[in-house]
Amino acid sequence: MPDPYQAPDQLDPQVLDAIVQRLEERGENARFQAMIAAYLAEIPPDRPLSVLDLGCGTGVVTRRLSEHLHPEAEVHGLDVSERFLAEARRLAPESRIQWRLSSGTELPYPDASFDWVVLHTVLSHLPDPLATLREVRRTLRAGGRAVLFDADYASTTFAYPDLALMRETDFRLLAAVAANLDVCRQLPRYLAEAGLSLDRHVGDVLSEAGRGDYYLSSVQGFAKLIPALGILSAEEGRAWVEHMLAAHEAGTFFASCTYYTFYASRPST
Ligand SMILES: C[S@@+](CC[C@H](N)C(=O)[O-])C[C@H]1O[C@@H](n2cnc3c(N)ncnc32)[C@H](O)[C@@H]1O
Repeated sequence: MPDPYQAPDQLDPQVLDAIVQRLEERGENARFQAMIAAYLAEIPPDRPLSVLDLGCGTGVVTRRLSEHLHPEAEVHGLDVSERFLAEARRLAPESRIQWRLSSGTELPYPDASFDWVVLHTVLSHLPDPLATLREVRRTLRAGGRAVLFDADYASTTFAYPDLALMRETDFRLLAAVAANLDVCRQLPRYLAEAGLSLDRHVGDVLSEAGRGDYYLSSVQGFAKLIPALGILSAEEGRAWVEHMLAAHEAGTFFASCTYYTFYASRPST
């Protein structure tokens, strides 16, 4: 089953709408916002930098970048989906952001264009993350920095009473929506191969126990994606969604995932 984020515009419009809604809803979650704020704080706002949000989707991070950066900074948002970019433009009608429709495998920018490049939950979806990291290196100026934020989807879990069923369902759900469940674990190797220096990394566990919020929106997204993408049988899918919603109502819900922020740079020499 192909990762639905690799060619979003080919999806059924209702599935695409569900993904747009999920991207914006998770962007409103306070703990998700705090992880974005932590890396934005590393990008200096006191000088006119040139910054790219690669795989910007509906612009959740691009809008934050535009608010954060110097008034004369250049802010670029690139994505492979026309539908996501249309939503991004609609949500930031007055902004100075320069949107671009393109694949991240061959970036449409000259060498050394950017001071910073941000990829926010993008590498986990790409067919060839290393090819994109090589493009990140090419388009960064010497000494330029990259922020690679992603979910370790291999660690994502939605609690179910039966452990074997929980492990199998977690894997089937996440494998259906992210091509590279373990990309964070591979990143130190990919960065070395792409010629980028790994400066440091930060891990954050985003867990919810009792009632869901961040993950409840994910469950509601999965309720639409499971039948549309054939992830589980109709009966399995219904049972899973009903269990999660009932657990939320009963205050017995649990879900968790580890997110990582990798800071890398293009060596000066
Ligand atoms: C999970 S979404 C994240 C969107 C956004 N960064 C956010 O966090 O809200 C993954 C994004 O990667 C984009 N994408 C997938 N393959 C791509 C490619 N080859 N080049 C550029 N963008 C791509 C998708 O269209 C989608 O917007």
